[in-house]
Amino acid sequence: MLLAGDLTQHGEVDEARVLAEACRGLSIPVIAVLGNHDWQSDRTGDLARTLGEAGMVVLERAHTILPIKGVSVGIAAVKGFVGGFDYGWANFGEPLFREAYSETTRDVEALERGLRAIAGCGLRIALLHYSPSADTLQGEPERLWLVLGAERLAGPIREHRPHLVLSMKSTRCHWPSWSSPSATGIDSPAEPRSIDMQWEWPLPNAMSSSQMFSVRRSQSSWA
Ligand SMILES: [Fe+2]
Repeated sequence: MLLAGDLTQHGEVDEARVLAEACRGLSIPVIAVLGNHDWQSDRTGDLARTLGEAGMVVLERAHTILPIKGVSVGIAAVKGFVGGFDYGWANFGEPLFREAYSETTRDVEALERGLRAIAGCGLRIALLHYSPSADTLQGEPERLWLVLGAERLAGPIREHRPHLVLSMKSTRCHWPSWSSPSATGIDSPAEPRSIDMQWEWPLPNAMSSSQMFSVRRSQSSWA
């Protein structure tokens, strides 16, 4: 199970305990990144510890490789950060603005490192909270795109081409479609609110994204 952040509303440990108890004892691995909500109380370490004690794995600028039914599943995970698209946040001006740009840079670099580390895996997944593509933000007020994702996050994805890219912002999942890449190199379904993915085992050795997953769109929302 992959959780793309905002695991809590206000980043409080009591909220994390609810999720921890829901996931405790599951027979499948639970991999998560934190979202901006999870930073609200400045207790991310406590959140990760609480979730970890229940068996969840919280990744931040990190990767993991899971052997699942004979397939090495690599997950490179970063929360990501703001920056926008096209006319994005510039590395210019006041220190706070330049620091925000640098924070996104650190995520971009970590995502690149993570994807490189899982390059040999049979299934490679990029897991983010903030969106690396404006394609999945369609329908959101355009004035908010600056703080919903960053085009720069798509750089490592274009370079390493993971089989699957998941991000939470705007409650959409998206995945690469290399046959007809969009301007950002990442295509997305037209109007997903959520996607339930049913993994098919065993995975074939040579996989395309369409072969890997049986994807079922659902009206149930993660929002
Ligand atoms: Fe969020």
